[in-house]
Amino acid sequence: MSRVDFGAKPIMFPQPVLIVGTYDGNGVPNAMNAAWGITTDFREITISMSEHKTTKNFAVTGAFTVSMATEDQVIACDYVGIESADKVPDKFARAGFHATKSAYVNAPLIDELPMALECKVKSFNDGILIGEIVNVSADESVITDGKIDPKKLKPITFDPCNNAYIALGEKVGNAFKDGAALKA
Ligand SMILES: Cc1cc2nc3c(=O)[nH]c(=O)nc-3n(C[C@H](O)[C@H](O)[C@H](O)COP(=O)(O)O)c2cc1C
Repeated sequence: MSRVDFGAKPIMFPQPVLIVGTYDGNGVPNAMNAAWGITTDFREITISMSEHKTTKNFAVTGAFTVSMATEDQVIACDYVGIESADKVPDKFARAGFHATKSAYVNAPLIDELPMALECKVKSFNDGILIGEIVNVSADESVITDGKIDPKKLKPITFDPCNNAYIALGEKVGNAFKDGAALKA
């Protein structure tokens, strides 16, 4: 192996493409793209977040949703990452998104994105948003035998080296199982 150094950079593979949904104080929905986020406990999600219209919104409502960006919605999902609702108040509608209020938190589910985490803000300090996951919901169209089916959901990942969105590939193993072949 001959390794090349890239220095100190926030690079991981795969990174998710999370679409963070919020309402402002008047109930106007917004969405933004966030690739630097991950679940950090059984009921917790952590997202590295700068100041945005989104952060102003959840400061008021105390809530947000996190939808998985999908192959079908790449253009809309990228758009909400390069436009701010501070400048374009109808950004959510311009993305072609339609909102349905979560039954659990004061934040919008996005009708065009079939799977989402519904979260309450636990804290937002030093650019780190921590949310409590109070529900996960998915449309029937992406469920097989009672489970969310990645083949139907078609979530995309973010490639931070090439600024690209990449589709998932094939199943290559069984978690918590295949490694048993090497156990003593
Ligand atoms: C691929 C991609 C990933 C992004 N990831 C993040 C992120 O993890 N954290 C963040 O604060 N902003 C991230 N952004 C930038 C925000 O999505 C962007 O500033 C957006 O316009 C904020 O929208 P708002 O002001 O309407 O809330 C990302 C943008 C793109 C395109």
